[in-house]
Amino acid sequence: MAEKKSRDIRIHEVLTEILKKITPSEEEQYETKVFIEKVLTVTDGILKPHRLTRTLAGSYMRDTWLPNKKEFDIFVMFPESCPREKLEKLGLEIGKKITKRLHGEYVIAYAEHPYVRAKVCTKYVAEEIKKLIRKEKVSRESCYEIDIVPCYAVKSAEKIKSAVDRTPFHNRWLYDNMSPALASQVRLLKQFAKGMGVYGSDAKVLGVSGYLCELLTIQYKSFKNFLDHASKWEAGQVFIDLEEHHKDDRASAAKEFRTQPLIVIDPVDPKRNVASNFSPENFVKLVKSSREFLEKPGEQFFFPEKKKSPKDLKKRMEERGTQIIGVKFQKPDVIDDILWPQLRRTSRRLSNILKEHEFMVMGKDAFCTEKECILMFEMEVWALPRIRKLVGPFVFSRKHSDEFISKYRGAGRIWVEGSSWVAEIKRKFTQADQKLKDSLKDSEKNLLSKGIASHPAHAIAKKFDILDSKETLSLAKKNPGFAEFLHSYFTKRVV
Ligand code: CTP
Ligand code: MG
Repeated sequence: MAEKKSRDIRIHEVLTEILKKITPSEEEQYETKVFIEKVLTVTDGILKPHRLTRTLAGSYMRDTWLPNKKEFDIFVMFPESCPREKLEKLGLEIGKKITKRLHGEYVIAYAEHPYVRAKVCTKYVAEEIKKLIRKEKVSRESCYEIDIVPCYAVKSAEKIKSAVDRTPFHNRWLYDNMSPALASQVRLLKQFAKGMGVYGSDAKVLGVSGYLCELLTIQYKSFKNFLDHASKWEAGQVFIDLEEHHKDDRASAAKEFRTQPLIVIDPVDPKRNVASNFSPENFVKLVKSSREFLEKPGEQFFFPEKKKSPKDLKKRMEERGTQIIGVKFQKPDVIDDILWPQLRRTSRRLSNILKEHEFMVMGKDAFCTEKECILMFEMEVWALPRIRKLVGPFVFSRKHSDEFISKYRGAGRIWVEGSSWVAEIKRKFTQADQKLKDSLKDSEKNLLSKGIASHPAHAIAKKFDILDSKETLSLAKKNPGFAEFLHSYFTKRVV
């Protein structure tokens, strides 16, 4: 009992400390508020002649953002009657206009429809912020990434035309259901997830989204209570339905989502599991960490130490006795949600090609910087003899025996083992990297027909490099992000 009490006190202490670190400073809150107001005023001015409205999405509306977030979305709402092509065209035009008026720069990003991703810096925008900078109230000028996304203003979230159309409904629901007191609890959950690398529901991370953190906090009321529950979660057994949409058909609704470890019904859309992208691996991580934190609370869960010395990496790689092969190519210019499933598919395909040639792959992963992607393979077998043994037909079958013999007669020795013919033939590739190079040195069309996904195929057809263990290590020396990636690959464990 006394032990539990002292642990609860410790948990409280840790969470208080963490909250200090993850609550944006007054200056940052002020700067953000002024900046967003300015951006919205400009946006409204541009939308007015088109008779369109907008809504701000996500965490800034609910004060659940983490410090230095510097990213927000503006949704431009089109009437349902507007044809899709017009929405896309006008959506981009408006996005560009807003960016220009704010002296920013933009790129066009692609999701369900194209949208403008703008970078706007405070110095061009708000006089108020300029004054603050002068007074040194804010330390420096900062820049924000603003996604300007066109969406349809539909009547209910069940009638959406694309995923982004749901957001205005989320805003409304959360406005009614979230209290300011919960905001700090949401922040704790977001940072906890971030600490273990499972924050973000995009195809790259396959973790929990900000919206999911908000819903879980509403369900459990506090971060501590969330931990008490999450530490006992079992994959496939958690069914959270805040609006009780499935009060009477829970079992059949759960069946719908049975491959998903966590089920959180979207309050505004009964058919959607908000946690549908949450992978089983990350689910288990979250459960384990919740349990461990409750047993031994500490700040490291939220802010883990980053171990990434290349020396340490070298030692680890040598100890394992495996070899690394990397395939490096230019990063395709598409959003993560499109890129990452393609990288995983490509990596699976290449791994299978290697296996078909008896080069065994022990593990694989992918990494991208802004410019390049690397598919990494940890090889269990990377070199093979110059010859290989081919087991042929039974000696009892005259026809097949003749065929086998005439086919392999010139290649090398032929003999019988047990009751089957065996031939010794030359192996075309004795090194895994040679095989990979040979497979990838091909036209885009052929790469596609080999099962390489479209964007990687396009990039690889232009240029690629194969890295060995040594080159992988030297890249890690130059690139701390890559070193960290390798480190987490080698130290990955849940239990
Ligand atoms: N959204 C969603 N499902 C997801 C991701 C996003 O429904 N898997 C919607 C939600 O309506 C959310 C909005 O998109 O409010 C904005 O998403 P995002 O910026 O990713 O999340 P935030 O809640 O703003 O969290 P963060 O602080 O990380 O920006
Ligand atoms: Mg956001």
